[in-house]
Amino acid sequence: MEPVTVLLIGSGGREHAMALALCRDPRVVLHTAPGNPGTAQLGTNHPVGAADLDGLLQLAEDLNANLVVVGPEAPLCAGLADALAPRPCFGPVQAHAMLEGSKAFAKAAMEAAGVPTAGHRRVKRSMDLDDALDAFSGRPWVIKRDVLAGGKGVLVTDDRDKAEAFALSAITTDGEVLIEAFLEGEEASMLVLMDASGYRCLPASQDHKRVGEHDQGPNTGGMGAYCPAPVVTAAVQKKVESRIVKPMHTHLCSGEVPYRGVLYVGLMIDSKGDPYVVEFNVRFGDPECQVTMPLLGDDAYTWFEAVSRDALASVDLPLVEASLLTVVLASEGYPSSPVTGRAIEGLAMTSPPSTEPSTAWVNIAGVRCEDDGSLTSSGGRVLSVTGMGASLQEAADLAYGRLSTLDLLGGHHRRDIGARAGVTHPHIE
Ligand code: AMP
Ligand code: GLY
Repeated sequence: MEPVTVLLIGSGGREHAMALALCRDPRVVLHTAPGNPGTAQLGTNHPVGAADLDGLLQLAEDLNANLVVVGPEAPLCAGLADALAPRPCFGPVQAHAMLEGSKAFAKAAMEAAGVPTAGHRRVKRSMDLDDALDAFSGRPWVIKRDVLAGGKGVLVTDDRDKAEAFALSAITTDGEVLIEAFLEGEEASMLVLMDASGYRCLPASQDHKRVGEHDQGPNTGGMGAYCPAPVVTAAVQKKVESRIVKPMHTHLCSGEVPYRGVLYVGLMIDSKGDPYVVEFNVRFGDPECQVTMPLLGDDAYTWFEAVSRDALASVDLPLVEASLLTVVLASEGYPSSPVTGRAIEGLAMTSPPSTEPSTAWVNIAGVRCEDDGSLTSSGGRVLSVTGMGASLQEAADLAYGRLSTLDLLGGHHRRDIGARAGVTHPHIE
């Protein structure tokens, strides 16, 4: 058994979940840049930021990495996979990463591939804005900036003044803005492994984007997720594959450099069960990754490595059959102004979780290990607690049970993760 050196890029809860999955393969020697206290337990962290392309290239070379696995989108949009070539990389080249980097580019790709999505208009001059807002009136306005905005680039509002102000400011700073038709329905996230040889859809999950219970309050990076999402029935899955995944695979993999990585398909499923694309991302979702990655069992490295050399079609491994649910613990003030630097109690850093059913574990995100070994909060989303069981209810009970043993002053979490999938929450006092 030859050891393999894997360099994982990123530092969030997503990357801790990826690290846990990769390390289940005994061949993997893990290095992470920059990583977090969770990944530090599984391998070596290197103080190279995800935005430092030269530093990452040098590190990959110094380590002679067999595979580079990229967690976040920014280095992909900046061309990391292109610069690493021919070193194997899980994550697409810049020309494909534009699917996430530019909403207008994504819309053009969907049009070329014939994929269902909301109608839209690009507005470049403020004098054309009124007309465009009129064209989409009668439903909430959906205004999208055409830049990587870290989850802050979209406004959905009934208030025309707010829509106008957001759009005008986007035109001023970015040179244009997208106005999109409002789609009604239920959202789901489909993570699709993809390379020139084929694709593999992982079971669909559902994120909880609003900060507050019953989907109230501002949008966040995600406050919790569960997998599988029952809204994606077998019939819906079939439509997603035939109408969206297959044509996108053909579109993305028929050129000179195929898409190699995971395509995150953000879906809206209407009352007839017809799926529409809300967005594409070129990476795993956070926190969707935390509830999907464990389904790869011991084989995450095998899947990722195959994708990096267009051999996905030759991998025929079963996925773990289980239900997962994760609850994010966020800092006081998140998402607008998170308070950090507070002690986290009850977070003994233990060995990697088993992926035996009926277990719960912590995915580390915005956590710093102080010189004395104590753990403090260092970001908006501090950690997430993931439960895995035979049902979503069992997964929820396990996750909330583990969460109740943690303490972070001012920390907050949603107590209704999974409610749309029928999970009940006796833990709500
Ligand atoms: P995006 O960054 O494009 O995923 O948008 C962020 C969130 O805004 C999505 O997860 C949806 O909840 C909402 N959203 C975006 N586009 C639409 C749309 N066309 N109709 C309804 N909601 C939308
Ligand atoms: N959870 C949504 C995202 O990762 O974009």
